[in-house]
Amino acid sequence: MRVLVLGGGAREHAIAAALHTAGAQVAVAASNINPGLKALAFEYATVDPTQPGAVVEVARAQRVDYAVVGPEAPLAAGVGDALRASEVPVVGPSKAGAQIESSKRFCRELLARHGIEASPRFVPVSNLDEVDARVAEINGPFVVKPVGLTAGKGVRVQGVDFQSAEEGASYAKQYLAAHPEAGGILLEEKAEGEEFTLMAFVTDSGIFPMPIVQDYKRAAEHDTGPNTGGMGAYSQRDHLLPFLSASMRDRALEILRKSVEALRSEGIPYRGILYGGFMLSARGPVLMEFNARFGDPEAINVLTLYEEGNFAELLLGVATGRVDPNLVQFRLRATAVKYLVAPGYPDHPVVGGLITVDEPAIEELGVHVRYGSVDAAGPSQVRLTGSRGIALVGEASAVHEAGARVEAAIAHVTGEFQVRHDIASKADLAMRVERMRGLFVPGAKPSPLPLSVSAPEAPPASHAPMNRRA
Ligand code: GLY
Repeated sequence: MRVLVLGGGAREHAIAAALHTAGAQVAVAASNINPGLKALAFEYATVDPTQPGAVVEVARAQRVDYAVVGPEAPLAAGVGDALRASEVPVVGPSKAGAQIESSKRFCRELLARHGIEASPRFVPVSNLDEVDARVAEINGPFVVKPVGLTAGKGVRVQGVDFQSAEEGASYAKQYLAAHPEAGGILLEEKAEGEEFTLMAFVTDSGIFPMPIVQDYKRAAEHDTGPNTGGMGAYSQRDHLLPFLSASMRDRALEILRKSVEALRSEGIPYRGILYGGFMLSARGPVLMEFNARFGDPEAINVLTLYEEGNFAELLLGVATGRVDPNLVQFRLRATAVKYLVAPGYPDHPVVGGLITVDEPAIEELGVHVRYGSVDAAGPSQVRLTGSRGIALVGEASAVHEAGARVEAAIAHVTGEFQVRHDIASKADLAMRVERMRGLFVPGAKPSPLPLSVSAPEAPPASHAPMNRRA
């Protein structure tokens, strides 16, 4: 099977590695040269993956059986539509379907039209003059969210990125003034809780969930510093999380299912990956955002658990409309991913730093290297750019053990970089469980939320994962 992967980051490296392990021949179309992808690909076309004509040309020239779109920008630019028009099946929705990510307003209004109760209270704002009145309307802690794509970096949260309503209003006004063509912003009521990611393969024959992952979006330890695309992530052996029960996972999956149905009923069929970014709040899962593609780093976690399966056939099924449910199998292991990035990332990255990666020593530890946005600089050497550089992914039977493996692997990388050592540590996981407990005031009415807060690595039988491979 010949498969075209679009995009040149660590997520795409993980996708290509899983395809390669399944025996597929991988062609890549990306604007950068990713050394990890380059080593796997039979063809590496350096083209802008958001240019539909250029991508179709590569797909035709390489006679691929289908294409997988990694990042969101090509989907928003209509690359999926152009490939389908040229009879190349695609893992990725049409431009219309990708609006579920490319327009936060479209997404919220879709859910509202179909009575899908998963959104916080929200108000769209497109005009500077409306900001103060809309902030007053929200009347409580809020989040400022650009409607369009910002690579995860445009959102500002009260209590974290700004304190008073006036400061939030001021950021909203600045954003609207600086981006007059960007489609405005949403003001959303702030939801308290822990974030989690549920991704699913979506096609005509159904929706097939992947293991749940928790991403660490803030640049610095203990969830401080600016928002990033994600500094790392973990997943638990039972495919749930230390604070997330099977029933909460099922509620989140139902939100994905209803949303896909809502799109379909509006004439927008969806074949691709649907990423639900949720906040587990005291009233259950609240949808923070949908993405129309695999998460980065979340894909690196879950695809590590798929390495022995037939990923090429599974994605062909997604692209062509019929998935064999037996192919949706993930091993029962915990994973941890940590990104090594340039010092000062994301606001003031010191780019060009030389990094030496001792891959054989790292692989020896059972940890994989997934290259992101780096420039090759010689054998085992790369230079960091201003985006996320190198992801290390480890697996084990417990999350903190997977995290410890990645920490051991970091010792085999030399150079100046920044990394979050707290990701997947025992202390961090305990803190997240405690934070969830703290949402429930002692003595208050019992919560309807059946928290799973004990023995995170040894789930009760009722928490059986949906897709298992012993
Ligand atoms: N990790 C967040 C994202 O992929 O959007």
